[in-house]
Amino acid sequence: MRENLLLNKVAIVTGGTRGIGRSIVMALAKEGADCIFTYLQNRDLAEPLVDEVNRIGRRALPLQMDVADFENSKIIIEKVKETFGRLDILINNAGIIRDKSLMMMSKDDWSAVIDTDLTGVFNTTRACIITFLKQKSGNIINISSVNGVHPLPGQVNYAAAKAGVIGFTKSLAREVAPYNIRVNAVAPGFIETDMTKELDQGHRKKFLDMIPLGKFGTAEEVAQTVIFLASDKSHYITGQTIQIDGGLGM
Ligand code: NAI
Repeated sequence: MRENLLLNKVAIVTGGTRGIGRSIVMALAKEGADCIFTYLQNRDLAEPLVDEVNRIGRRALPLQMDVADFENSKIIIEKVKETFGRLDILINNAGIIRDKSLMMMSKDDWSAVIDTDLTGVFNTTRACIITFLKQKSGNIINISSVNGVHPLPGQVNYAAAKAGVIGFTKSLAREVAPYNIRVNAVAPGFIETDMTKELDQGHRKKFLDMIPLGKFGTAEEVAQTVIFLASDKSHYITGQTIQIDGGLGM
């Protein structure tokens, strides 16, 4: 039997109750990590996830938190220290879309996406960075998007936020590398989750035609790349963005 890649590590996952975040929580637990995961509203999904993590012998703590709220997001590091006593991995996953043409996009559509998808990454990372700097170790993984690299029309808010996450990742990677802290991003393409389930058949077909591998990805496929980046198998990799998109963004 192979060794767990993240035995006794402690991880935070924002937006962990469903979709990609949920798959990341489960993959972390299967590799031996304990998890604190946040959610915005899905309390009913949080408890079953704790049970599932417990069943494979790891601990999980759900935390209701809005990543867009700077003061609120400070709670996360207090809770993780109180419960687990340490922190090794931060995964900034929480994100939303409000796709519209620019002409139809309200200031609120713009701000909601920037505040959650970009400022949320700042808020949570800002809350955790002092712990990582003090212990001279840490691993941060940001969930960007193929739209941050090769944007599609109709989502200037999302494309700007996710490109911003990539810039954030590179700048912070340089800043904290001397402290043995790695910072990387993943850029998923079309992944089967609640976020993409709303696509009508016409758009689905159009996007499938654009993907060289001819299919949407799974949350589990994203989670496995996150595990690689969170583990020592990637110890010489920092400041990178790995695209998981079936070739869409090449
Ligand atoms: P999802 O909609 O299924 O899950 C998003 C999670 O973020 C939910 O748990 C939600 O409660 C949480 N969340 C949203 N706003 C929040 C806030 N203000 N504070 C705290 N938590 C909040 O979405 P999915 O598909 O799992 O996406 C996860 C990440 O992956 C997002 O950052 C998304 O932009 C990114 N992504 C998804 C792709 C896809 O095709 N599904 C493609 C590329 C990137």
